[in-house]
Amino acid sequence: MTKAEEPDALIDRIIKANTQIPAKGCRAQHAKHGGHHRATFKVHALDDTDPALAQGLFATPASYTAVIRYSNGKEQDAAKPDVHGMAIKIHADPGERLLTDPDDACAIDFVLVDVDTFFSDDLGDYTIVNEKLVPLLQRKQTSDDAFSFWEALGGLVGTIFTLRTLDDALRLFRFRGEKEPISKVKRWHLEYSSATPYRLGDIGPVKYKILACEATSEASVVEVAFCIERPSNPRDVDIEMPSYSWADVSDLVTVATLAIETDPGSAPDLDVEHLRFNPWHVPPEHEPLGAINAARKKVYDTLADKRQREHA
Ligand code: HEM
Repeated sequence: MTKAEEPDALIDRIIKANTQIPAKGCRAQHAKHGGHHRATFKVHALDDTDPALAQGLFATPASYTAVIRYSNGKEQDAAKPDVHGMAIKIHADPGERLLTDPDDACAIDFVLVDVDTFFSDDLGDYTIVNEKLVPLLQRKQTSDDAFSFWEALGGLVGTIFTLRTLDDALRLFRFRGEKEPISKVKRWHLEYSSATPYRLGDIGPVKYKILACEATSEASVVEVAFCIERPSNPRDVDIEMPSYSWADVSDLVTVATLAIETDPGSAPDLDVEHLRFNPWHVPPEHEPLGAINAARKKVYDTLADKRQREHA
């Protein structure tokens, strides 16, 4: 039974499954990028407003250059129902990292989606669902076709075959963000969440949230609020249950502003397919929490190595 498998064995199975999916030089998941942009990440002065949050990257007010990669979870066509990603790489001050980006030792990354939960709470179940869906995800890498009803049903039945993954499979099929065709809205008009929890220094688990941009004009720079989602009582949340929303048991505090250069041509020299984002590219004060986050460290790192070799 998978339940008894050690996390390391599950992580190796996840890597094996995701090695089979991608077209050469592409990501296995979130392969289709939805624009990349240069940005400035401006950390607010928190000492007077909320000094407990002034830890790690948020310890001192400062401005850092950043890049953003927007993505679709699985679809090539952004108008199709999907989860949408927003990965941010901040060129921060030098310092210790839990995992160092080999391309930029100063990098601090935040990886978010336009849903505030993840579909799975269990790495064993995630592994099975991921393995079952390899053929469908492979096809999504090169084709715009939607899954046919029968293919989706076949995938589900294959997954149900291992009965206890049923919850994950059903949540996965509902794992979608913005409901409107996304081509009608700019990516910064969506709200994003880290979905999984992170430790913030000594205050315990938090999530990150980026609020939707309200501006409607075609400005050359738009600003969005980067917030910490802090549970009123840490006992109300379980770091091993990322499929639960914290919205009813937490407060949002804006700790930074992200100023995004809207012109997609603002970063012509940026090789976005080469960039490697990893939630572990962070100082120790921002440690990713829970088994789902733990797995992402080696999975993203190993697959980024492979992708960069193929893409070179
Ligand atoms: C066990 C859990 C997870 C696994 C195994 C996993 C796996 C992956 C893989 C294989 C990639 C492509 C990496 C690459 O080739 O560079 C990826 C990218 C991504 N994942 Fe996950 N993922 C997990 C959980 C999550 C969660 C909880 C989120 C929520 C924020 C998330 C959001 C993203 C995003 C936004 C990207 C695209 C990053 C980019 O633009 O490079 N993933 N994931």
